[in-house]
Amino acid sequence: MAFSFIQITDHHLGESAQDQPFGYPASATFQAVMDNIAYSSEDFDFLVSTGDLVNRPTDDSYRYLKTILNMQPARQVPGPHFIRYGRLWDFPVYLLPGNHDDRKTFFNNLYDDEKSEFLNANFQHKGVNFICLDWGGLDRGELSNGMLSFLESALDDGLPAVLLMHHNVVPLGVPWLDRFIANDIDRFYKCLEGRNVLGILCGHLHTTYETHLDGIPVLGLRSTGFQFRVEGKLVMSLMPLHYRIVTIDDHFHLTSRIIEVPLPAGL
Ligand SMILES: [Fe+2]
Ligand SMILES: [Fe+2]
Repeated sequence: MAFSFIQITDHHLGESAQDQPFGYPASATFQAVMDNIAYSSEDFDFLVSTGDLVNRPTDDSYRYLKTILNMQPARQVPGPHFIRYGRLWDFPVYLLPGNHDDRKTFFNNLYDDEKSEFLNANFQHKGVNFICLDWGGLDRGELSNGMLSFLESALDDGLPAVLLMHHNVVPLGVPWLDRFIANDIDRFYKCLEGRNVLGILCGHLHTTYETHLDGIPVLGLRSTGFQFRVEGKLVMSLMPLHYRIVTIDDHFHLTSRIIEVPLPAGL
């Protein structure tokens, strides 16, 4: 059965509305995106955040995230968490950690009992296997043997799969962004050969892009906070906000489109 879901990423929230990491009002822009999603007339089944939920991984930052989303800790990884935000009432969300999310604080605040070192976990939805992969807490992705063996076993069930992750895995031809890709990325590529992977959704680069890996769509997304421009050097910028609506049709074909949200007034 066809369905859609939402991707958002890289919220870099502080500890309160007044806390502005890098001088950027991350709380206001995050809520502008959430407002747009909550009052959208479209139907979607769940929401995924691909990490960097907070800017500094303090208990108060995660508490603030839970307050904004009116969200309780989840029982098991990878969730879902259920939020109450506008018309999104007890709405399922899946939250991945990024390099800004200290894993211990992430698990302590967002899960009842889960104390894993990494969030490598999967969930199934309408015949699709959603596989969450954790490339670690550094700027550059780290390919662990544990993550790779988890991926291989998760793909073994034969269902069409969507991979969800924070770090980027495909070069964009921009050296300062491509250096975040794990050194031994070829081992990851090899793992996907001959598998039924519908798409790969990433965060981390704070910029929207669409590329391919051997025919698999690889989709990056602009941060709900500050953005980078894809240029030869690091350029932070203020641009309209993005979220992505991903649709998987009855034939398990994945398509997506970007919804642009104006920056809140006064920025
Ligand atoms: Fe980020
Ligand atoms: Fe990141």
